[in-house]
Amino acid sequence: MKKQRIGIVGIGKISGIYLQNLTGLFGKRLIVSGVTDLIAERAAKAEEEYQVPHIQKTQDLLNSPDVDIVLNLTQPQHHHEVAMAAVKAGKHVYNEKPLCVKTEEAAELLRCAAENRVRVGGAPDTFLGAGIQTCRKLIDDGWIGQPIAAAGFMMNHGHEHWHPAPEFYYQTGGGPMFDMGPYYLTALVSLLGPIARVSGSAKQGFKTRTITSEPLNGTVIPVEVATHIAGILDFASGAVGTIITSFDVYSHTLPFIEVYGTEGSLRCPDPNTFGGPVFVRQGRAENWSEIPLIKNYPENSRGLGITDMAEGISEGRPHRASGELAYHVLEVMHGIHNASASGTYYELKSACTRPEPLA
Ligand SMILES: NC(=O)c1ccc[n+]([C@@H]2O[C@H](COP(=O)([O-])OP(=O)(O)OC[C@H]3O[C@@H](n4cnc5c(N)ncnc54)[C@H](O)[C@@H]3O)[C@@H](O)[C@H]2O)c1
Repeated sequence: MKKQRIGIVGIGKISGIYLQNLTGLFGKRLIVSGVTDLIAERAAKAEEEYQVPHIQKTQDLLNSPDVDIVLNLTQPQHHHEVAMAAVKAGKHVYNEKPLCVKTEEAAELLRCAAENRVRVGGAPDTFLGAGIQTCRKLIDDGWIGQPIAAAGFMMNHGHEHWHPAPEFYYQTGGGPMFDMGPYYLTALVSLLGPIARVSGSAKQGFKTRTITSEPLNGTVIPVEVATHIAGILDFASGAVGTIITSFDVYSHTLPFIEVYGTEGSLRCPDPNTFGGPVFVRQGRAENWSEIPLIKNYPENSRGLGITDMAEGISEGRPHRASGELAYHVLEVMHGIHNASASGTYYELKSACTRPEPLA
């Protein structure tokens, strides 16, 4: 089987785990054939640390005959521009989350990729880890009967106490839904299928934030976006979902994700990780039972999604962390904000097929 060659654009904070896994855990299944960053020292350091060729200019990496798939690890506001340039250069592309900032940009990307007969993939790939895949198997095998409802909660008090430059979390394109929603919504869609319509309320708890991390300790920054978003998800299957993402909450006792079925309940692990634990409580059972995880990928396996995409291309089968799925999740996130602004339901225009479980 041909090994796909990956060119990475953007060697920032998240690139470390990708480089580690794509040259280590997945190193026998694909090849990293180039890395680039506008800040040349970052790519030079990656070359030294992981023995991957440093290509000076982004366009040279995109045009390189040694690159089949572009892994786009730039900041969200650059996802569209870099991905469009990649597909126009005839390369497949896999974007970090969210797929693009605007749905119009993401739609254009999918259209352009189809015209150029190349594929689009998108993070997150945590739903392919042992934790959510175990939940998927339990649902598919009928442990909780027919799912009728689900709930997901991602609440904290923002990132200004630890992130060195947290401003972007409070600017357009940021906020808790666009930052963390992709993990929760991708997991929910993989467990329950696509979403047909959404509603919700999006509010801003605080007009400003004070950074308490270094080096900007004491700096007051304006908040441009909603920071507490409560959404209702009507799945095409008929199941009803509830999701809250918030940067306004100091403490809570709610679960990451739970799925409620006709025969019992399933408690899912943090969808921003690849592992467990997973619990089931059937019918009126007195206690939750912890279910052993399926064995593959309980550890931090970032890169699993692009590895599956690379093998999908070589094998001529669909890949799981697809552009179609990432687009659907992006439309859901915007749909909840739109519904809040208009005071109505937002009917999803996109759908996606439920990605196959990982064998
Ligand atoms: N940091 C995290 O913990 C984390 C976790 C999960 C996902 N992500 C996602 O990963 C992506 C990157 O996040 P990050 O935290 O690594 O950001 P970052 O700012 O640390 O790194 C982004 C890098 O991209 C480079 N870049 C931007 N445009 C470029 C271009 N045209 N050509 C070459 N290089 C370019 C920048 O110079 C920078 O080094 C985002 O989409 C984010 O949502 C980040």
